[in-house]
Amino acid sequence: MNTDLIDFFNIVLRFTHVVAAIMWIGNSLLFTWMEIKLLKRQGDPDLIGYMDMLHGGGVFHLQKRVLKPDTIPSPLHWFYWQSYTTWLTGIALLATYFFTRADTLLLDPAKTDLTSGAAIAISLAGIFGGWILFDLYWRSPLKNYLKTGALVWISLVVLYALALDSVFNGRALYLQVGMTLGSFMTANVFFHIMPNQRKFMKALREGKEHNLNVGKAAKFRSLSNHYITFPVIFLMLSGHYPVLYGSERRVLILSIIVLSLIVIKYMMNIRDTFKPWFAVFVLTFVLGTAGIVAAISIPSGTETEPKDPLVLAGEEIFNQLGCVACHQGSNTSIAPNLSGIFGTERELADGSKALADEAYLRESILQSPVKVTKGYAAAMPVYQGVITDTQLEQLVAFLKQY
Ligand code: HEC
Repeated sequence: MNTDLIDFFNIVLRFTHVVAAIMWIGNSLLFTWMEIKLLKRQGDPDLIGYMDMLHGGGVFHLQKRVLKPDTIPSPLHWFYWQSYTTWLTGIALLATYFFTRADTLLLDPAKTDLTSGAAIAISLAGIFGGWILFDLYWRSPLKNYLKTGALVWISLVVLYALALDSVFNGRALYLQVGMTLGSFMTANVFFHIMPNQRKFMKALREGKEHNLNVGKAAKFRSLSNHYITFPVIFLMLSGHYPVLYGSERRVLILSIIVLSLIVIKYMMNIRDTFKPWFAVFVLTFVLGTAGIVAAISIPSGTETEPKDPLVLAGEEIFNQLGCVACHQGSNTSIAPNLSGIFGTERELADGSKALADEAYLRESILQSPVKVTKGYAAAMPVYQGVITDTQLEQLVAFLKQY
């Protein structure tokens, strides 16, 4: 298919994906907030809680009630398509964008020589296999130990990230963990939350009493979705943060962020009943940030390889930052081939010429749009402020002998 058309579909899918996700997460956060804020009133046994909210020039008087078979409201609004649309567009993006170039977009050629097919299989196995494991775990009696379960699952996510790190590039690793967790959320809606709602609505329509326990069975699934939300949002946006996924301690950084975001969300939820919530919130943020800064900046000691460490580090960064995603060697459809570029004369889009010396390489990386290579769009990201000076020197050293 025409590449412009593919790009256009990509934009449409991504836009729909983001809009649906905002609607879904927005609903989910609002409903959880309402649950927490509901007030109790004596003397009305069918009233679970009530609240008043000011919006749009009026007051919404909201009640959460036990339903009676003879007073089922109509229309009654259900919420599910936002979740399904988010997942379906996400999977479509994965299939049409990442899977079509899985060898460069998912894999890290410096770590593995697996094929595209193997990369796709790993990605799908992670998503679907992960869900089966998650679901079996929370169907088993282990579900009664909520806090232990949460710790077990955070540890499993870290192990999963470590395993992926042996073959995937940094950007794909973060995305894959995000997609897997995001898929748990939609699967929770599809396999648990919706069937339970259908079950008690069916019973009501058959004239039976409103059984609140049926809903409770799915409540855990909503709650787990709630706590997965912040990590997934972060991971889905992580493509913009090469500083994080490009670090060699990317799994540690991912773990710190996932854990901190769960604690932060928890503090936000218990703020009415737990006085020092804000102190814990701030402390988590400060410690998490300090941990990440340390993880990025403390040298690991493994960089002192016997043979030209600068070049080796440069090659690793070239892969980690996703340069290879566009600069695909002899496949020059997206970006120029950088192999042997040093010392050559470059033809630029404005008709002028430039010598590819060190200064040119530096400028091309930091401020690519300043000198655009003839025949290409100014599509390369600006890395000024994104990569460190050391990383820049390593990249230049690598490109000089590439
Ligand atoms: C989104 C795709 C994309 C990514 C990611 C990308 N580039 Fe580029 N790059 C391009 C395109 C397109 C051009 C040609 C247009 C231009 O010069 O701006 C280019 C040009 C260059 C040039 C100048 C090439 C020439 O012909 O003179 C260098 C050097 C370069 N990139 C290095 C890098 C490095 C290093 C990275 C990773 C840190 C990187 N690029 C990441 C798309 C990309």
